[in-house]
Amino acid sequence: MSLPQNFLWGGATAANQFEGGVFEGGKGLSTADVITAGSHTVARQITFTTKEGEKGAQGIMPAKDLPEGAVYGVQEGQYYPSHEGIDFYHRYKEDIALFAEMGFKCFRLSINWARLFPVGDETTPSEEGLAFYDNVFDELRRYNIEPVVTISHYETPLGLVNKYGGWSDRRCIDFFVNYCNTLFTRYKGKVKYWMTFNEINMMGFIPFFAGGVTKADANTQAQAVHHQFVASAKAVKLGHEIDPENKIGLMIAYGAIYGLTCKPEDQALAMEDTRNRHFYSDVMARGYYPAYKLKEYERLGIKITMDAKDEEILKEGCIDYLGFSYYTSHCVTSEEGEAIGGNFSMGVKNPYIKASDWGWQIDAIGLRIALNTLWERYQKPLFIVENGLGAVDKVEEDGSIQDDYRIEYLKDHVAQMDKAVNEDGVQLIGYTPWGCIDLVSAGTGEMKKRYGFIYVDRDDKGNGTLNRSRKKSFHWYKKVIESNGTEL
Ligand code: BG6
Repeated sequence: MSLPQNFLWGGATAANQFEGGVFEGGKGLSTADVITAGSHTVARQITFTTKEGEKGAQGIMPAKDLPEGAVYGVQEGQYYPSHEGIDFYHRYKEDIALFAEMGFKCFRLSINWARLFPVGDETTPSEEGLAFYDNVFDELRRYNIEPVVTISHYETPLGLVNKYGGWSDRRCIDFFVNYCNTLFTRYKGKVKYWMTFNEINMMGFIPFFAGGVTKADANTQAQAVHHQFVASAKAVKLGHEIDPENKIGLMIAYGAIYGLTCKPEDQALAMEDTRNRHFYSDVMARGYYPAYKLKEYERLGIKITMDAKDEEILKEGCIDYLGFSYYTSHCVTSEEGEAIGGNFSMGVKNPYIKASDWGWQIDAIGLRIALNTLWERYQKPLFIVENGLGAVDKVEEDGSIQDDYRIEYLKDHVAQMDKAVNEDGVQLIGYTPWGCIDLVSAGTGEMKKRYGFIYVDRDDKGNGTLNRSRKKSFHWYKKVIESNGTEL
Protein backbone atom coordinates (compact mmCIF):
# COMPACT_ATOMS: atom_id res chain seq x y z
CA MET A 1 0.00 0.00 0.00
CA SER A 2 1.14 3.54 -0.35
CA LEU A 3 1.91 6.12 2.29
CA PRO A 4 -0.24 9.27 2.61
CA GLN A 5 0.03 11.94 -0.06
CA ASN A 6 2.54 14.63 0.95
CA PHE A 7 4.40 12.07 3.06
CA LEU A 8 7.76 13.58 3.96
CA TRP A 9 10.36 11.15 2.62
CA GLY A 10 13.86 12.40 3.24
CA GLY A 11 17.02 11.93 5.24
CA ALA A 12 18.54 13.20 8.49
CA THR A 13 21.81 14.74 9.63
CA ALA A 14 23.20 16.90 12.44
CA ALA A 15 25.52 19.88 12.14
CA ASN A 16 28.27 18.62 14.43
CA GLN A 17 28.46 15.33 12.54
CA PHE A 18 28.62 16.63 8.99
CA GLU A 19 28.93 20.40 8.66
CA GLY A 20 32.59 20.99 9.50
CA GLY A 21 33.87 24.56 8.98
CA VAL A 22 34.31 24.80 12.74
CA PHE A 23 36.85 27.63 12.52
CA GLU A 24 35.09 29.43 9.68
CA GLY A 25 32.45 32.12 9.46
CA GLY A 26 33.09 33.31 13.01
CA LYS A 27 31.67 30.14 14.58
CA GLY A 28 32.39 29.54 18.26
CA LEU A 29 33.17 26.10 19.66
CA SER A 30 30.45 23.71 20.79
CA THR A 31 30.59 20.79 23.18
CA ALA A 32 30.91 18.46 20.17
CA ASP A 33 34.06 20.28 19.03
CA VAL A 34 36.04 19.19 22.08
CA ILE A 35 35.15 15.50 21.82
CA THR A 36 37.78 13.28 20.19
CA ALA A 37 37.23 10.27 17.95
CA GLY A 38 36.86 6.85 19.58
CA SER A 39 35.77 3.44 18.36
CA HIS A 40 33.40 0.61 19.20
CA THR A 41 35.68 -0.32 22.10
CA VAL A 42 37.39 2.98 22.98
CA ALA A 43 35.25 5.78 24.42
CA ARG A 44 35.38 9.24 22.86
CA GLN A 45 37.15 11.74 25.15
CA ILE A 46 36.12 15.21 26.28
CA THR A 47 39.21 17.42 26.50
CA PHE A 48 39.80 20.14 29.08
CA THR A 49 42.35 21.98 31.21
CA THR A 50 41.95 21.48 34.95
CA LYS A 51 41.93 24.44 37.31
CA GLU A 52 45.51 23.50 38.22
CA GLY A 53 46.40 24.05 34.54
CA GLU A 54 46.83 20.37 33.65
CA LYS A 55 45.59 19.05 30.31
CA GLY A 56 43.03 16.31 30.79
CA ALA A 57 40.50 14.12 29.00
CA GLN A 58 37.62 11.94 30.10
CA GLY A 59 35.41 9.42 28.30
CA ILE A 60 31.84 10.36 27.37
CA MET A 61 30.44 7.07 28.63
CA PRO A 62 29.60 6.00 31.22
CA ALA A 63 28.77 9.44 32.55
CA LYS A 64 30.99 10.50 35.47
CA ASP A 65 31.54 13.89 37.08
CA LEU A 66 34.02 15.95 35.10
CA PRO A 67 36.63 17.78 37.20
CA GLU A 68 35.36 20.79 39.12
CA GLY A 69 36.37 24.11 37.57
CA ALA A 70 37.83 22.62 34.37
CA VAL A 71 37.85 24.69 31.18
CA TYR A 72 36.83 22.76 28.08
CA GLY A 73 38.79 23.28 24.90
CA VAL A 74 40.69 21.89 21.96
CA GLN A 75 44.10 20.28 22.60
CA GLU A 76 46.95 20.04 20.16
CA GLY A 77 47.67 16.57 18.83
CA GLN A 78 44.11 15.31 19.30
CA TYR A 79 41.73 14.47 16.45
CA TYR A 80 38.24 15.99 16.64
CA PRO A 81 36.02 14.66 13.84
CA SER A 82 33.48 17.49 14.08
CA HIS A 83 36.03 20.07 12.92
CA GLU A 84 35.77 19.05 9.31
CA GLY A 85 32.82 16.64 9.48
CA ILE A 86 32.16 15.73 5.86
CA ASP A 87 32.50 19.37 4.86
CA PHE A 88 28.84 20.08 4.15
CA TYR A 89 29.78 23.68 4.96
CA HIS A 90 31.48 23.97 1.56
CA ARG A 91 29.72 21.20 -0.35
CA TYR A 92 26.08 21.80 0.52
CA LYS A 93 25.10 22.50 -3.09
CA GLU A 94 26.50 19.21 -4.34
CA ASP A 95 24.91 17.31 -1.43
CA ILE A 96 21.50 18.90 -1.82
CA ALA A 97 21.57 18.13 -5.54
CA LEU A 98 22.13 14.46 -4.67
CA PHE A 99 19.25 14.53 -2.17
CA ALA A 100 17.07 16.06 -4.89
CA GLU A 101 18.14 13.32 -7.30
CA MET A 102 16.82 10.74 -4.81
CA GLY A 103 13.56 12.69 -4.76
CA PHE A 104 13.75 13.90 -1.15
CA LYS A 105 10.65 15.77 -0.04
CA CYS A 106 12.36 16.93 3.14
CA PHE A 107 15.80 17.11 4.69
CA ARG A 108 16.52 17.09 8.42
CA LEU A 109 19.51 19.12 9.54
CA SER A 110 20.42 20.98 12.70
CA ILE A 111 21.55 24.53 13.21
CA ASN A 112 24.89 24.92 14.88
CA TRP A 113 23.93 27.24 17.74
CA ALA A 114 27.53 28.50 18.14
CA ARG A 115 27.62 29.49 14.46
CA LEU A 116 24.98 32.10 15.28
CA PHE A 117 25.95 32.85 18.87
CA PRO A 118 29.67 32.01 19.20
CA VAL A 119 29.70 32.12 23.01
CA GLY A 120 26.01 31.44 23.48
CA ASP A 121 25.00 34.36 25.69
CA GLU A 122 25.26 37.18 23.11
CA THR A 123 22.08 39.12 22.39
CA THR A 124 22.69 39.62 18.67
CA PRO A 125 23.50 36.82 16.25
CA SER A 126 26.30 36.58 13.72
CA GLU A 127 25.11 37.71 10.30
CA GLU A 128 27.61 35.43 8.61
CA GLY A 129 26.20 32.42 10.45
CA LEU A 130 22.63 33.36 9.58
CA ALA A 131 23.54 33.84 5.94
CA PHE A 132 25.01 30.34 5.72
CA TYR A 133 21.70 28.74 6.71
CA ASP A 134 19.80 31.15 4.44
CA ASN A 135 21.85 29.77 1.57
CA VAL A 136 21.19 26.18 2.62
CA PHE A 137 17.43 26.74 2.98
CA ASP A 138 17.26 28.59 -0.35
CA GLU A 139 19.09 25.76 -2.05
CA LEU A 140 16.66 23.22 -0.55
CA ARG A 141 13.68 25.33 -1.67
CA ARG A 142 15.05 25.40 -5.21
CA TYR A 143 14.32 21.66 -5.29
CA ASN A 144 11.11 21.88 -3.23
CA ILE A 145 12.77 20.10 -0.35
CA GLU A 146 11.20 21.01 2.99
CA PRO A 147 13.80 21.68 5.70
CA VAL A 148 13.19 19.93 9.03
CA VAL A 149 15.33 21.71 11.58
CA THR A 150 16.62 20.47 14.93
CA ILE A 151 17.41 23.54 16.98
CA SER A 152 19.84 21.81 19.33
CA HIS A 153 21.36 18.50 18.28
CA TYR A 154 23.97 17.37 20.82
CA GLU A 155 25.84 20.65 20.81
CA THR A 156 25.71 23.42 23.36
CA PRO A 157 27.95 26.44 22.75
CA LEU A 158 31.09 25.78 24.78
CA GLY A 159 30.94 29.30 26.20
CA LEU A 160 27.77 28.31 28.04
CA VAL A 161 29.56 25.33 29.55
CA ASN A 162 32.70 27.20 30.58
CA LYS A 163 30.80 30.22 31.94
CA TYR A 164 27.63 28.67 33.36
CA GLY A 165 28.02 24.88 33.58
CA GLY A 166 25.69 24.25 30.65
CA TRP A 167 22.01 23.40 31.04
CA SER A 168 22.28 22.87 34.78
CA ASP A 169 22.11 26.69 34.93
CA ARG A 170 18.67 28.24 34.47
CA ARG A 171 20.08 31.16 32.49
CA CYS A 172 20.44 28.83 29.51
CA ILE A 173 16.67 29.05 29.08
CA ASP A 174 16.85 32.71 28.12
CA PHE A 175 19.87 32.21 25.86
CA PHE A 176 18.04 29.41 24.07
CA VAL A 177 14.80 31.36 23.71
CA ASN A 178 16.73 34.29 22.25
CA TYR A 179 18.38 31.89 19.81
CA CYS A 180 14.95 30.47 18.86
CA ASN A 181 13.52 33.95 18.45
CA THR A 182 16.31 34.67 15.97
CA LEU A 183 15.60 31.47 14.05
CA PHE A 184 11.82 31.84 13.91
CA THR A 185 12.07 35.47 12.82
CA ARG A 186 14.84 35.13 10.28
CA TYR A 187 13.66 31.90 8.67
CA LYS A 188 9.94 32.64 8.72
CA GLY A 189 8.49 31.30 5.49
CA LYS A 190 11.59 29.22 4.81
CA VAL A 191 11.32 26.69 7.63
CA LYS A 192 8.10 25.27 9.00
CA TYR A 193 9.15 22.04 10.75
CA TRP A 194 11.25 22.42 13.89
CA MET A 195 12.33 20.21 16.77
CA THR A 196 13.72 21.72 19.95
CA PHE A 197 16.20 19.21 21.47
CA ASN A 198 17.54 16.08 19.83
CA GLU A 199 16.98 12.96 21.95
CA ILE A 200 16.18 14.97 25.04
CA ASN A 201 15.94 11.70 26.98
CA MET A 202 19.66 11.02 26.68
CA MET A 203 20.69 13.38 29.47
CA GLY A 204 21.11 10.50 31.93
CA PHE A 205 23.55 8.67 29.64
CA ILE A 206 25.58 11.41 27.98
CA PRO A 207 25.02 14.66 29.91
CA PHE A 208 27.89 16.57 28.29
CA PHE A 209 26.55 15.73 24.83
CA ALA A 210 22.95 16.38 25.78
CA GLY A 211 23.41 19.70 27.50
CA GLY A 212 27.00 20.54 28.37
CA VAL A 213 26.33 19.14 31.84
CA THR A 214 29.46 18.18 33.70
CA LYS A 215 27.91 16.42 36.69
CA ALA A 216 26.68 12.84 36.62
CA ASP A 217 24.34 12.98 39.61
CA ALA A 218 20.64 12.41 39.02
CA ASN A 219 19.60 15.67 40.68
CA THR A 220 21.73 17.90 38.46
CA GLN A 221 20.56 16.02 35.39
CA ALA A 222 16.89 16.25 36.36
CA GLN A 223 17.35 19.98 36.92
CA ALA A 224 19.05 20.41 33.53
CA VAL A 225 16.26 18.50 31.79
CA HIS A 226 13.70 20.65 33.58
CA HIS A 227 15.41 23.73 32.15
CA GLN A 228 15.27 22.17 28.68
CA PHE A 229 11.55 21.40 29.13
CA VAL A 230 10.82 25.00 30.07
CA ALA A 231 13.03 26.33 27.26
CA SER A 232 11.32 24.05 24.75
CA ALA A 233 7.82 25.03 25.90
CA LYS A 234 8.70 28.73 25.67
CA ALA A 235 10.10 28.16 22.20
CA VAL A 236 6.93 26.37 21.07
CA LYS A 237 4.75 29.24 22.25
CA LEU A 238 7.00 31.85 20.69
CA GLY A 239 7.30 29.92 17.44
CA HIS A 240 3.51 29.80 17.11
CA GLU A 241 3.22 33.52 17.82
CA ILE A 242 5.83 34.44 15.23
CA ASP A 243 4.35 32.18 12.57
CA PRO A 244 1.18 30.16 13.15
CA GLU A 245 2.32 27.94 10.28
CA ASN A 246 5.21 26.61 12.38
CA LYS A 247 5.05 22.97 13.46
CA ILE A 248 7.28 22.44 16.45
CA GLY A 249 8.05 18.96 17.69
CA LEU A 250 9.93 17.12 20.39
CA MET A 251 12.57 14.50 19.65
CA ILE A 252 13.27 11.42 21.75
CA ALA A 253 15.33 8.29 21.33
CA TYR A 254 12.76 5.51 21.26
CA GLY A 255 12.51 1.76 20.86
CA ALA A 256 10.32 -1.11 21.93
CA ILE A 257 11.15 -2.55 25.35
CA TYR A 258 10.16 -6.14 26.08
CA GLY A 259 10.11 -8.23 29.21
CA LEU A 260 12.53 -11.08 28.47
CA THR A 261 9.99 -13.63 29.69
CA CYS A 262 6.28 -13.58 30.51
CA LYS A 263 7.18 -13.56 34.20
CA PRO A 264 5.10 -10.73 35.65
CA GLU A 265 8.28 -9.27 37.19
CA ASP A 266 9.84 -8.93 33.73
CA GLN A 267 6.70 -7.31 32.34
CA ALA A 268 6.60 -4.85 35.24
CA LEU A 269 10.23 -3.97 34.58
CA ALA A 270 9.41 -3.37 30.92
CA MET A 271 6.61 -1.03 31.96
CA GLU A 272 8.95 0.91 34.25
CA ASP A 273 11.71 1.12 31.68
CA THR A 274 9.28 2.32 29.01
CA ARG A 275 8.13 5.05 31.38
CA ASN A 276 11.67 6.40 31.47
CA ARG A 277 11.23 7.19 27.79
CA HIS A 278 7.64 8.35 28.02
CA PHE A 279 8.47 10.73 30.83
CA TYR A 280 10.00 13.20 28.36
CA SER A 281 7.22 12.99 25.80
CA ASP A 282 4.61 13.06 28.58
CA VAL A 283 5.89 16.41 29.80
CA MET A 284 6.35 17.91 26.36
CA ALA A 285 3.15 16.59 24.76
CA ARG A 286 0.80 16.81 27.74
CA GLY A 287 2.33 19.78 29.54
CA TYR A 288 2.87 18.42 33.04
CA TYR A 289 5.06 16.04 35.02
CA PRO A 290 3.49 12.56 35.23
CA ALA A 291 2.65 11.19 38.68
CA TYR A 292 5.00 8.18 38.34
CA LYS A 293 7.99 10.49 37.87
CA LEU A 294 7.08 12.76 40.76
CA LYS A 295 6.81 9.67 42.97
CA GLU A 296 10.15 8.40 41.72
CA TYR A 297 11.81 11.76 42.43
CA GLU A 298 10.32 11.68 45.92
CA ARG A 299 11.65 8.16 46.51
CA LEU A 300 15.11 9.03 45.28
CA GLY A 301 15.23 12.35 47.10
CA ILE A 302 15.53 14.28 43.82
CA LYS A 303 14.39 17.88 44.24
CA ILE A 304 13.99 20.18 41.28
CA THR A 305 13.91 23.92 41.69
CA MET A 306 10.99 25.33 39.71
CA ASP A 307 9.96 28.92 39.16
CA ALA A 308 6.40 29.89 40.04
CA LYS A 309 5.39 30.09 36.38
CA ASP A 310 7.06 26.93 35.12
CA GLU A 311 3.96 24.76 35.35
CA GLU A 312 1.94 27.27 33.34
CA ILE A 313 4.74 27.56 30.75
CA LEU A 314 4.83 23.78 30.30
CA LYS A 315 1.06 23.72 29.77
CA GLU A 316 1.16 26.51 27.21
CA GLY A 317 4.02 25.05 25.20
CA CYS A 318 2.87 21.56 24.19
CA ILE A 319 4.48 20.29 21.02
CA ASP A 320 2.69 19.83 17.68
CA TYR A 321 4.20 16.48 16.72
CA LEU A 322 6.50 13.78 18.06
CA GLY A 323 9.79 13.17 16.31
CA PHE A 324 11.73 10.11 17.37
CA SER A 325 14.72 8.01 16.47
CA TYR A 326 14.25 4.28 16.15
CA TYR A 327 17.18 1.92 15.67
CA THR A 328 16.73 -0.95 18.01
CA SER A 329 14.80 -2.56 20.84
CA HIS A 330 15.87 -4.32 24.00
CA CYS A 331 14.68 -6.69 26.71
CA VAL A 332 14.67 -6.35 30.46
CA THR A 333 14.62 -9.07 33.06
CA SER A 334 14.55 -9.49 36.80
CA GLU A 335 17.02 -12.34 36.43
CA GLU A 336 20.35 -12.81 34.68
CA GLY A 337 20.46 -11.92 30.98
CA GLU A 338 23.18 -11.33 28.41
CA ALA A 339 23.99 -7.61 28.27
CA ILE A 340 23.72 -6.04 24.83
CA GLY A 341 26.29 -3.85 23.14
CA GLY A 342 25.39 -0.55 21.58
CA ASN A 343 26.20 2.97 22.65
CA PHE A 344 24.81 2.54 26.14
CA SER A 345 24.29 -0.51 28.22
CA MET A 346 20.55 -0.84 27.81
CA GLY A 347 18.90 -4.05 28.90
CA VAL A 348 19.63 -7.56 27.75
CA LYS A 349 19.76 -9.42 24.45
CA ASN A 350 16.67 -10.63 22.69
CA PRO A 351 17.40 -14.20 21.55
CA TYR A 352 15.05 -13.91 18.56
CA ILE A 353 16.74 -11.08 16.64
CA LYS A 354 20.11 -10.32 15.08
CA ALA A 355 22.38 -7.39 15.85
CA SER A 356 24.51 -4.98 13.79
CA ASP A 357 28.32 -5.11 13.92
CA TRP A 358 28.09 -2.46 16.63
CA GLY A 359 25.76 -4.61 18.73
CA TRP A 360 22.53 -2.74 17.98
CA GLN A 361 19.72 -5.28 17.82
CA ILE A 362 17.67 -5.18 14.63
CA ASP A 363 13.92 -5.24 15.18
CA ALA A 364 11.67 -3.93 12.43
CA ILE A 365 8.47 -5.18 14.08
CA GLY A 366 9.42 -3.14 17.13
CA LEU A 367 9.00 -0.04 14.96
CA ARG A 368 5.32 -0.87 14.38
CA ILE A 369 4.91 -1.42 18.11
CA ALA A 370 6.64 1.89 18.85
CA LEU A 371 4.47 3.79 16.36
CA ASN A 372 1.29 2.33 17.81
CA THR A 373 2.32 2.95 21.41
CA LEU A 374 3.15 6.59 20.79
CA TRP A 375 0.09 7.23 18.65
CA GLU A 376 -2.29 5.67 21.16
CA ARG A 377 -0.68 7.53 24.04
CA TYR A 378 -0.64 11.05 22.54
CA GLN A 379 -2.85 11.15 19.44
CA LYS A 380 -0.42 13.61 17.88
CA PRO A 381 1.26 13.21 14.48
CA LEU A 382 4.45 11.14 14.52
CA PHE A 383 7.61 11.64 12.53
CA ILE A 384 10.37 9.00 12.33
CA VAL A 385 13.31 11.37 12.14
CA GLU A 386 16.06 8.74 12.47
CA ASN A 387 16.32 5.08 11.54
CA GLY A 388 19.03 3.07 9.84
CA LEU A 389 21.87 0.61 9.96
CA GLY A 390 25.43 1.61 10.84
CA ALA A 391 27.65 -0.73 8.81
CA VAL A 392 31.07 -0.99 7.18
CA ASP A 393 30.84 -0.47 3.42
CA LYS A 394 33.27 -1.91 0.90
CA VAL A 395 34.11 0.05 -2.21
CA GLU A 396 34.44 -2.43 -5.09
CA GLU A 397 37.11 -2.09 -7.76
CA ASP A 398 34.64 -0.46 -10.12
CA GLY A 399 33.78 2.08 -7.40
CA SER A 400 30.34 0.62 -6.63
CA ILE A 401 29.06 -0.10 -3.12
CA GLN A 402 26.72 -3.08 -2.83
CA ASP A 403 25.03 -2.29 0.48
CA ASP A 404 22.28 -4.92 0.32
CA TYR A 405 22.35 -5.29 4.13
CA ARG A 406 21.28 -1.62 4.44
CA ILE A 407 18.53 -2.04 1.87
CA GLU A 408 17.25 -5.10 3.73
CA TYR A 409 17.20 -3.24 7.05
CA LEU A 410 15.37 -0.23 5.64
CA LYS A 411 12.96 -2.31 3.57
CA ASP A 412 11.85 -4.26 6.65
CA HIS A 413 11.36 -1.06 8.63
CA VAL A 414 9.43 0.71 5.88
CA ALA A 415 7.16 -2.36 5.57
CA GLN A 416 6.33 -2.14 9.29
CA MET A 417 5.81 1.61 9.00
CA ASP A 418 3.34 0.91 6.20
CA LYS A 419 1.44 -1.57 8.38
CA ALA A 420 1.26 0.96 11.22
CA VAL A 421 -0.22 3.54 8.86
CA ASN A 422 -2.41 1.45 6.61
CA GLU A 423 -3.53 -1.30 8.98
CA ASP A 424 -3.38 0.40 12.38
CA GLY A 425 -4.34 3.93 11.41
CA VAL A 426 -1.31 5.66 12.92
CA GLN A 427 -0.83 9.23 11.75
CA LEU A 428 2.72 9.38 10.46
CA ILE A 429 3.94 12.45 8.60
CA GLY A 430 7.41 11.48 7.47
CA TYR A 431 10.47 9.30 7.47
CA THR A 432 14.05 10.55 7.44
CA PRO A 433 16.61 7.73 7.65
CA TRP A 434 19.68 8.71 9.63
CA GLY A 435 22.90 9.78 7.99
CA CYS A 436 21.45 9.80 4.48
CA ILE A 437 24.95 10.84 3.52
CA ASP A 438 27.80 9.15 5.45
CA LEU A 439 28.80 11.23 8.45
CA VAL A 440 30.65 11.03 11.75
CA SER A 441 29.14 8.61 14.27
CA ALA A 442 27.95 10.37 17.41
CA GLY A 443 28.59 7.44 19.69
CA THR A 444 32.05 6.44 18.48
CA GLY A 445 33.31 9.36 16.36
CA GLU A 446 34.08 6.90 13.57
CA MET A 447 33.46 7.37 9.85
CA LYS A 448 33.46 3.66 9.15
CA LYS A 449 30.12 3.24 10.93
CA ARG A 450 28.23 4.35 7.85
CA TYR A 451 24.50 4.89 7.40
CA GLY A 452 24.37 6.73 4.08
CA PHE A 453 22.83 6.27 0.67
CA ILE A 454 25.72 8.48 -0.40
CA TYR A 455 29.27 7.31 0.29
CA VAL A 456 31.82 9.86 1.48
CA ASP A 457 35.49 9.09 0.96
CA ARG A 458 36.89 9.75 4.40
CA ASP A 459 38.32 7.47 7.08
CA ASP A 460 38.42 7.42 10.86
CA LYS A 461 41.59 9.52 10.98
CA GLY A 462 40.32 12.22 8.65
CA ASN A 463 42.06 10.99 5.48
CA GLY A 464 40.29 10.86 2.11
CA THR A 465 39.16 13.03 -0.76
CA LEU A 466 35.68 13.72 0.70
CA ASN A 467 34.32 12.79 -2.73
CA ARG A 468 30.71 11.65 -2.80
CA SER A 469 29.38 8.58 -4.62
CA ARG A 470 26.04 6.78 -4.94
CA LYS A 471 25.63 3.44 -3.17
CA LYS A 472 23.23 0.71 -4.36
CA SER A 473 20.82 1.90 -1.64
CA PHE A 474 20.74 5.35 -3.28
CA HIS A 475 18.95 3.90 -6.30
CA TRP A 476 16.74 1.72 -4.11
CA TYR A 477 15.58 4.66 -1.95
CA LYS A 478 14.93 6.78 -5.04
CA LYS A 479 12.50 4.10 -6.24
CA VAL A 480 10.86 3.87 -2.82
CA ILE A 481 10.19 7.60 -2.82
CA GLU A 482 9.03 7.65 -6.44
CA SER A 483 6.52 4.90 -5.72
CA ASN A 484 5.53 6.47 -2.38
CA GLY A 485 6.56 3.33 -0.55
CA THR A 486 4.86 0.77 -2.76
CA GLU A 487 8.02 -0.54 -4.42
CA LEU A 488 10.36 -1.88 -1.78
C1 BG6 B 1 21.08 9.16 17.47
C2 BG6 B 1 21.60 10.56 17.33
O1 BG6 B 1 21.26 8.74 18.76
O2 BG6 B 1 21.73 8.13 16.82
C3 BG6 B 1 22.54 10.79 16.18
O3 BG6 B 1 20.56 11.51 17.32
C4 BG6 B 1 23.44 9.58 16.02
O4 BG6 B 1 23.23 11.97 16.41
C5 BG6 B 1 22.58 8.37 15.72
O5 BG6 B 1 24.43 9.72 15.07
C6 BG6 B 1 23.33 7.09 15.46
O6 BG6 B 1 24.24 6.84 16.48
P1 BG6 B 1 25.76 6.57 16.15
O7 BG6 B 1 26.43 6.45 17.46
O8 BG6 B 1 25.77 5.31 15.37
O9 BG6 B 1 26.22 7.73 15.36
